[in-house]
Amino acid sequence: MISKEAILHILKTVKYPGYSRDIVSFGLVKEIQTETNAVGVLIELTSPSPEIGEQIADAARLALRDGIPGLVDAHVQVKVPTGAPTPPGPVAKNRLPHIKRVIAVASGKGGVGKSTCSVNLACALRHIGARVGLLDGDIYGPSIPLMMGVQHRPEITEEEHLIPPFAHGVRLMSMGFLIPDDQPVIWRGPMIQKTMQQFIHQVDWGELDYLLVDLPPGTGDAQLSLCQIVPLDGGVIVTTPQQASIGVVRKGMGMFEKVNVPLLGLIENMSYFTAPDGSRVEIFGHGGGAMEAQRKGIPFLGEIPILPAVREGGDRGMPAVVSDPTGPAGRPFIQVAQTLRERLG
Ligand SMILES: Nc1ncnc2c1ncn2[C@@H]1O[C@H](COP(=O)(O)OP(=O)(O)O)[C@@H](O)[C@H]1O
Ligand SMILES: [Mg+2]
Repeated sequence: MISKEAILHILKTVKYPGYSRDIVSFGLVKEIQTETNAVGVLIELTSPSPEIGEQIADAARLALRDGIPGLVDAHVQVKVPTGAPTPPGPVAKNRLPHIKRVIAVASGKGGVGKSTCSVNLACALRHIGARVGLLDGDIYGPSIPLMMGVQHRPEITEEEHLIPPFAHGVRLMSMGFLIPDDQPVIWRGPMIQKTMQQFIHQVDWGELDYLLVDLPPGTGDAQLSLCQIVPLDGGVIVTTPQQASIGVVRKGMGMFEKVNVPLLGLIENMSYFTAPDGSRVEIFGHGGGAMEAQRKGIPFLGEIPILPAVREGGDRGMPAVVSDPTGPAGRPFIQVAQTLRERLG
């Protein structure tokens, strides 16, 4: 009778297709049975690929027949997991050597001030001395050009790279630069993904400490796949107090978790309103963001008040944090930027 060790020894010559390692060292051989002139082997794969299963089964049968003279029956069974789609783990992403940190800004829904926060946070990081880029990931509703006050098309280098326009010390890229305002974008997913890939890899961002990515609002497949295309170092979630209280934030956190992107923290926007007499009016309730952050054990990055200056700044392309960094709108953004910088080390 043939020993199990001898069979394992033979199976060690079977390489996993595409790898230099063998199926034994990958831990895929689950069972070995031996009889006088017969061998039974059970191999279990972890990825649902029937083709690879067949290749391994064939290779294992051959190896056993070659390795054991007189073997009559080599029964090799390969179990391939079915149904379960491959988890959307971090895909092989090209790291960006000139960019230290790539940070996504997300929100559960539109209208919470995600773009407003992205723009002001980018300018606030610049204000505290960082080199910053801002990428508008919202292909359908690009708002960065208007909010940063830039409308001209980016120049193109001889290598067909885009040179990102510069505003308030921040480098920018947006679909809004490339298509006229009145022309709706009706692309499908793959086209958007390709564009984002180009925005990351074919834009001359230069040396950056931070590249912020203003993701499209929501937490669906489109946002998820952008998170996989862009080599993210972390994600920030923008919420309003009432959204946080109904759990929309959790979806945002879930999205980053699914793609293994660390959560850097939560910003609560439109937190409160300061009345002319100086008193604080909490229009949408208070503390939802901080509570949700605490529940989830992630940092609370700060609260941004509702202020006409914030909206007006966005409308005229002069972010509040740029026009009045020490004012009631500027200060909270700079505080958020400082907290974020500390958090990132
Ligand atoms: N803190 C704030 N105070 C006043 N207005 C705000 C504030 N945050 C956002 N807004 C306004 O709310 C609207 C939606 O903001 P926007 O940043 O476009 O949201 P999103 O990107 O989440 O859809 C804009 O008109 C913006 O100027
Ligand atoms: Mg937006």
